[in-house]
Amino acid sequence: MKAIAYRHSLPIENADSLIDIELPAPHASGRDLLVEVRAISVNPVDTKIRRNVAPAEGQAKVIGWDAAGVVKAVGPEVSLFKVGDEVWYAGDLTRAGTNSELHLVDERIVGHKPKNIDFAQAAALPLTTITAWELLFDRLQVSRDAGATQGKSLLVIGAAGGVGSILVQLARQLTGLTIIGTASRPETGEWIKQLGAHHVIDHSKPLHEEIARLGLPPVTYVAALNQTDHHWAAISELVAPQGKVALIDDPDALDVRTLKRKSVSLHWEFMYTRSMFQTADMQQQHQLLNDVATLVETGAVKTTLAERFGKINAENLKRAHALIESNRAKGKIVLEGF
Ligand SMILES: NC(=O)c1ccc[n+]([C@@H]2O[C@H](COP(=O)([O-])OP(=O)(O)OC[C@H]3O[C@@H](n4cnc5c(N)ncnc54)[C@H](OP(=O)(O)O)[C@@H]3O)[C@@H](O)[C@H]2O)c1
Repeated sequence: MKAIAYRHSLPIENADSLIDIELPAPHASGRDLLVEVRAISVNPVDTKIRRNVAPAEGQAKVIGWDAAGVVKAVGPEVSLFKVGDEVWYAGDLTRAGTNSELHLVDERIVGHKPKNIDFAQAAALPLTTITAWELLFDRLQVSRDAGATQGKSLLVIGAAGGVGSILVQLARQLTGLTIIGTASRPETGEWIKQLGAHHVIDHSKPLHEEIARLGLPPVTYVAALNQTDHHWAAISELVAPQGKVALIDDPDALDVRTLKRKSVSLHWEFMYTRSMFQTADMQQQHQLLNDVATLVETGAVKTTLAERFGKINAENLKRAHALIESNRAKGKIVLEGF
């Protein structure tokens, strides 16, 4: 089968930073599905792994953790899917990634693909959807009763990125929160307004001053998705007493003492936790992907695909990594077909 991989951790400008290779087809066992990958999307984690995790000498590493495709074979213990099912999923960081024609994934972290969108539109969503859903409902424990969240607010920092683009939609559709999104450019500001943000502020300026400029009260929930260390002092200022802050990125160091006076709680979301530790509730990711598929099919949530980058090969994947590394992606970049 065809796959895109790397043998050495190299800057994306290097011709060998990602290469086209051939690998033997894998075989499904246990609860694994063997999926024929039709489309993939690219996330910052791909670039972080490529830059920081070198394969063993002589080995090639296949990365990428977002796919939509068709089930070709199932392991003997599979009960949730059958051959021919169309699926969408993000996968497991501890296993080979989705940048290959055929891919193995545990059925408990796979959902049925929404029927009303194509494979590329579907591949845009799984990793960021799992992250946004777990952040909002499992970590921050935001109520899905719109009445219970009236008068409360959510600040989404980096709202036009992959995670923000689905988080804004889920919060708008499933809660009564007032949503404030951050963007630094007219096109990203317009994008998050269209996705459902009530207010847009500029993350190139101090965020607490931006909140004050709009006359908004202190913020109940903060989703710190991007450049959290840079925004930390402003977050500590703008968050409401007894508010909650959720993090997903990789800040160098944060002084959490700044939250004490307001009794603000801090929550980590890492979407690989359930698969990495095989938690008893890992099938929640199957369930939430199915729930969001229904939201897509009813039109409540739309794909966050912003750019189709052509076929799944090393050349196109390098262009996608370069755009992600610029930290100026809007929504998601997707590649389709081998
Ligand atoms: N823990 C987890 O499970 C998990 C899951 C997914 C992602 N992540 C991490 O979360 C981070 C965001 O992921 P993503 O997929 O949303 O990234 P992304 O799509 O690459 O984010 C790009 C966005 O970042 C915005 N941005 C640029 N500079 C910013 C700044 N100084 N402050 C705030 N926003 C800024 C840009 O908006 P403008 O163009 O308007 O400036 C752009 O729209 C990454 O570090 C990723 O690795 C973690």
